[in-house]
Amino acid sequence: MGGNKTVDSLKHGICGEIFIPGDKSISHRSVMFSSLGDRAVRIRNFLNAQDCMSTVACMRSLGIQIDQIGPTEFIVHGKGLHGLQEPQCIVDAGNSGTTLRLMMGILAPQPFLTTFTGDASLHKRPMGRVIKPLSAMGAHIVGRESAKFLPVTLIPTQKLKGIDYQMPMASAQVKSAILLAGMYADGETRVTEPYTSRDHTEKMLETFGVALDKEGTSITIKAVDSFHAPELIEVPGDISSAAFWLVAASIISGSELTLRNVGVNPTRTGILDILIDMGADITLINKRFSGKEPVADIVVKSAALHGTTFGAEIIPRLVDEIPVIAVAAMFAEGETVITGAGELRVKETDRLQAITTEFNKLADCIIAAEDGLTIKGSAKLKAASCLSYHDHRIAMALAIAGAAGAGVTIDNAECVNISYPEFYATLETLRNR
Ligand code: S3P
Repeated sequence: MGGNKTVDSLKHGICGEIFIPGDKSISHRSVMFSSLGDRAVRIRNFLNAQDCMSTVACMRSLGIQIDQIGPTEFIVHGKGLHGLQEPQCIVDAGNSGTTLRLMMGILAPQPFLTTFTGDASLHKRPMGRVIKPLSAMGAHIVGRESAKFLPVTLIPTQKLKGIDYQMPMASAQVKSAILLAGMYADGETRVTEPYTSRDHTEKMLETFGVALDKEGTSITIKAVDSFHAPELIEVPGDISSAAFWLVAASIISGSELTLRNVGVNPTRTGILDILIDMGADITLINKRFSGKEPVADIVVKSAALHGTTFGAEIIPRLVDEIPVIAVAAMFAEGETVITGAGELRVKETDRLQAITTEFNKLADCIIAAEDGLTIKGSAKLKAASCLSYHDHRIAMALAIAGAAGAGVTIDNAECVNISYPEFYATLETLRNR
């Protein structure tokens, strides 16, 4: 069903400004939380892409009225913490791990049955990491291969009880699912991560008036009885989408881009730290806040990059950016070594494998380890046909590598619609400027 797309080599630097579309993580949460709120919420700069529309569809199937009033503007008519209704059909989370895992946290405590499905990629992704702690709270969840994979059914059960849970991995989706279930559980729910992952759930819970206790990488939530929705949520731009332009402008000489309205929450800015460490010319201007989320415009100019080394501690702050960081490393002088990135093996595809196999078709310069990559820089790229594995971030990273190199043809290229439908159009605009 998918089409190929050829991205030609760019003949000149990329200049001008780009308005970055809404943050995927915050868009999901804005719809989920507003659905549980006590009044209608207007959401602006919502990411109108397949993943976030999966969340909209899920909430609609649970009886929530969601009106689209503009291309990226929605009104969610929340029905309160206990207002969701039993869905009439199987609920489809599409390609979206965030939809499925966070919705399991919301639905595990509900007094009705829900069955989830998703696409082929989501069927391969581990759900035990959410089902296990929710079950320890008293939830009754069944799924394929002893509750490890989709399809998954949540069966109504007794009231959940709080737990003190030590997460084996840093994951905002797992952390969020447990905190959301904790809102409905008796007593306290405490969750501890090995390293802090993105904290959009915590920030938005606080916006809705929920008190959290934070200590190191632990967060404690108590049962919640009121959930006060704000009138408006303004979603900042997604730094994970900005990442493609940060790298493109850095490695294509003669470039100067201003990226407008980028969320710069410190739990997400690992890409900035790593690119700056590699020698990138990046400046944040117009720093401001959107609700509790920090936002800035980012000016990036081309620069000579050099290799770097980074590991487990920073991975949660740049987990989705590793494909495009690998592209930066291919163009940098010297070697880049990435460790502690085993989580990439359970993303939309096994990204360590996809990067190694497909990027090496452009230049044979990457070696995979079980939990990381070694990338030999100053690679001489050639044109090639590469597979996206239907993974939006692999497709976009390949497009940047091809644009900066000698061109690339990408299969199932439309998978960028998962998170960045305007991506190719924006690239073409930059080419023609
Ligand atoms: C997300 C968390 C991360 C990230 C994903 C979005 C979220 O996943 O990779 O794209 O919105 O909470 P993990 O929780 O699996 O690390």
